[in-house]
Amino acid sequence: MAHEEVTRRGVQLLHDPLRNHGTAYTDDERGRLGLRGLLPVEVIPQDVQVDRVLENFHRKPDDLERYILLTSLQDRNESLFYRVVTENMDLMMPIIYTPTVGQACQEYCHIFRRPRGMYISAKDRGRVAELLANWPHDDVRAIVVTDGERILGLGDLGANGMGIPVGKLSLYTACAGIHPAWTLPLMLDVGTNNETLLQDRFYAGIRAPRLRGDAYDELVEELVQAVTERFPRALLQFEDFANANAFRLLRTYRDRICTFNDDIQGTAAMALAGVLSALRLTGGRLADQRVLFFGAGEAGIGIADLLVSAIAADGLTTAEARARCWFVDSQGLVVSSRTELAAHKQPYAHDAAPVGDLLGAVAAVRPTILIGASGQKGAFTPDVVRLMAEYNERPVVFALSNPTSKAECTAVQAYESSEGRAIFASGSPFAPVEFQGRTLVPGQGNNAYIFPGVGLGVIAVEASHVTDEMFMAAAHTLAGQVAEDDLAAGRVYPPLQEIRDISVDIAVAVAEVAYAQGRAGLPRPEDLREHIRAQMWSPVY
Ligand code: NAI
Repeated sequence: MAHEEVTRRGVQLLHDPLRNHGTAYTDDERGRLGLRGLLPVEVIPQDVQVDRVLENFHRKPDDLERYILLTSLQDRNESLFYRVVTENMDLMMPIIYTPTVGQACQEYCHIFRRPRGMYISAKDRGRVAELLANWPHDDVRAIVVTDGERILGLGDLGANGMGIPVGKLSLYTACAGIHPAWTLPLMLDVGTNNETLLQDRFYAGIRAPRLRGDAYDELVEELVQAVTERFPRALLQFEDFANANAFRLLRTYRDRICTFNDDIQGTAAMALAGVLSALRLTGGRLADQRVLFFGAGEAGIGIADLLVSAIAADGLTTAEARARCWFVDSQGLVVSSRTELAAHKQPYAHDAAPVGDLLGAVAAVRPTILIGASGQKGAFTPDVVRLMAEYNERPVVFALSNPTSKAECTAVQAYESSEGRAIFASGSPFAPVEFQGRTLVPGQGNNAYIFPGVGLGVIAVEASHVTDEMFMAAAHTLAGQVAEDDLAAGRVYPPLQEIRDISVDIAVAVAEVAYAQGRAGLPRPEDLREHIRAQMWSPVY
């Protein structure tokens, strides 16, 4: 090989984040790959590089700066980025995902360094396939797409919402070992109704009101067709769409392609797992619970639908199971006399007197379990939790709204208003709480417990569809991972640090369902677990 070519190859390696090992290249590699002179002389092995990253991480003044540090590392050296993340999950997850990713999205166009993923816009109607042809990796297996309209509980962030597909796919790799080159973050930029962004001179998305109606559906349809042609083995995950689009698109595509909506289905499995664990503490049966949801959107309805299936599996009819689930939305208790209810709420509209507020609804329904998915900070007031604690020995209170700034209540508030008896979980992490000489550990109801494992299972056996039964299996598997120690501290989810093993267990369970339902695209391997493990990428070099 000519000297010039070798040298260029060395430089290319250093600039290719998927292959770059930076200062960890050995002397021999430096010779072979044309790297001599391009790096400082000393070989710094990867574990020392990890320490250097951590030193820099701790030196940063705030979480957004830490997010920028990690993103820049991901852009330079993906292996090192993932090794840092997987070995420090508790520390890194709140930065690369909720809550910090929320702030990062709000400021995405201000902290922009390099593009990641693909931007398909309303202007690309008729040429989406042409755009997808520009993606450098052919074997994409996991795509997360958003249109940025409902980013966490923060609302319409337009093209700034790209932080979510990027973050979710980072979790696919960190939590389930999906090879980074198999992942594709996708922003469907259809404009934004966020005036602040439209006035922001750094905003890089389409400066127009959101596309609606047939034009929107046609663009999504073109995208779906182009994706399935270019990446026939890809799982397409819909993320953070506003709820009218989310429910409709799920209905349209779930039986046609390999797809799911994480806000609806992933959240459901995560929450069901938390409820099943909580019942191990309360000693109650699922079929005997009364569940009150605060927020009747994608998350709330998704959870209720899966819960109904789980209760029905406990021996009740679907109607009886639904009667155990109640909703409060922005207009109050969802009851049958209300005529304006969206289709997804109607199955849960029961015959009861109208109630305008949550406290009144708790008094009327007397729930054993209260689940917040409303994006309304502080909605679980001390009075609400106190009332729950009046007639429940262990009230189950899940404040799932993200990011932390939107949580219905904090861990401290839940414990203080219930004399430390609440079984509390939240969407974003809260630190353990010292309460009357005890350490209470809140569970984090993080979807990252579910979707990476589901994705790994689906991808590993090339399942044709993602079914509700797969999410049910994922929920039971996750619940089964909660140890007695976790429960004793009040935590209804296992430690995040165990997430790679949890993902494998979930993947096996999901793959089993795929085989049982005739949805698997590959012949059954002799050892399913081993087959799944073999698909997992390791960031260690
Ligand atoms: P959505 O927009 O589909 O639903 C929001 C619901 O809240 C709507 O039913 C709305 O009527 C209701 N709501 C709004 N204001 C209200 C008020 N003042 N009183 C009562 N209800 C009110 O949104 P989605 O997808 O259901 O998400 C809701 C929240 O749940 C978000 O903050 C999101 O971040 C969080 N979430 C958390 C997850 C987790 O992993 N923990 C997963 C998915 C969502």
